[in-house]
Amino acid sequence: MTEKIKVMIPEEDVAKRIEEIGKRISEDYAGKQVHMICVLKGGVFFMCELAKRITVPVSMDFMSVSSYGDGTSSSGVVKIAKDLDESLEGKDVLVVEDIIDSGRTLFYLLEILKKRHPKSMRLCTLLDKPDRRVRDVSVDYVGFEIPDEFVVGYGLDYAQKYRNLPYIGVVEFEE
Ligand code: IMP
Ligand code: MG
Repeated sequence: MTEKIKVMIPEEDVAKRIEEIGKRISEDYAGKQVHMICVLKGGVFFMCELAKRITVPVSMDFMSVSSYGDGTSSSGVVKIAKDLDESLEGKDVLVVEDIIDSGRTLFYLLEILKKRHPKSMRLCTLLDKPDRRVRDVSVDYVGFEIPDEFVVGYGLDYAQKYRNLPYIGVVEFEE
């Protein structure tokens, strides 16, 4: 079986949307510093592109979580594989994700981060699959709402491949 990637959101559209979100975040955080938290690995491409388009001061930190599940869906029991380097105390935190699917991982993660006393905490995701939502998470900035399809590119992987694609694509399998 071979895989083929069909373009869902072209590179130019992703770039344009990130520019818009960056502008909005810069306005919303005027006079403040945004402390961006990247959820590895998927969020890294989006976070870097977004950070370049934010005009207020930015600091960044990274964390990695793994969620116990049956392989196709997450259980919501999240293990912190790599924790943040810095404290969140008193910071205006912006959590940056690649995609919100069931919402389980993020729901659990936000519960953990809230206990670290940030001054504020908002959530930004490149992609949102609202049809699949099981846990209610309130997202402040969404790049694109997409249908229930498995997508790759811009940080998103299929079996660790395709993260480096500069567009969002759908994996198609051929005999
Ligand atoms: P959730 O707990 O179901 O919201 O899991 C979200 C995580 O599942 C994301 O951070 C991705 O790592 C992964 N994921 C969900 N949908 C996709 C997809 O379409 N392509 C690649 N990874 C996905
Ligand atoms: Mg992710």
